[in-house]
Amino acid sequence: MKEELRVKKIKDGTVIDHIKAGKGKKVLDILGVENGFPNVTALLMNVSSKRVGKKDIVKIENKALGKEEVDKIALIAPNATWNVIKDFKVTKKSKIELPDTLEGILKCPNPKCVTNMNEPVKSRFKVEKKEPVKLRCVYCERLFGLEDLI
Ligand SMILES: Nc1ncnc2c1ncn2[C@@H]1O[C@H](COP(=O)(O)OP(=O)(O)OP(=O)(O)O)[C@@H](O)[C@H]1O
Ligand SMILES: [Mg+2]
Ligand SMILES: [Zn+2]
Repeated sequence: MKEELRVKKIKDGTVIDHIKAGKGKKVLDILGVENGFPNVTALLMNVSSKRVGKKDIVKIENKALGKEEVDKIALIAPNATWNVIKDFKVTKKSKIELPDTLEGILKCPNPKCVTNMNEPVKSRFKVEKKEPVKLRCVYCERLFGLEDLI
């Protein structure tokens, strides 16, 4: 059965498509979808796709994504597609790509890092490798994998 026949269309909101199968739950975590989250949300898992084999899809009503959320999604679901839905139609579509540096969205796991001291220094990581992702803290120069950061 076609994916769009399983879940009612949403009027306004966000659809994140082409998420690698198994990563949809993590995308929900990033977006803060947990008990008490008020918006209507759908997670489709293991949908067949010509392009990526099996995929997950996340749909959230009345929610727009911010840059920080998109960058975090890029870390765990690179090449997912971000669709903005307005009045039942896709009005904007873009591929979620990992930027070269990530600013202010992740906490450096090194307790001695200057970004974890009292002075307000925004965290900054350079993307050193994309798959699997490796990020280097610009301040303490330590290298981290995703499991250390999310
Ligand atoms: N109003 C809506 N409510 C819920 N989901 C929607 C809505 N409109 C589109 N979608 C979903 O958003 C995704 C993108 O829709 P689109 O119509 O662009 O499909 P597509 O042509 O297959 O896109 P792509 O080329 O990115 O795969 C699909 O998963 C589709 O089911
Ligand atoms: Mg498609
Ligand atoms: Zn650091």
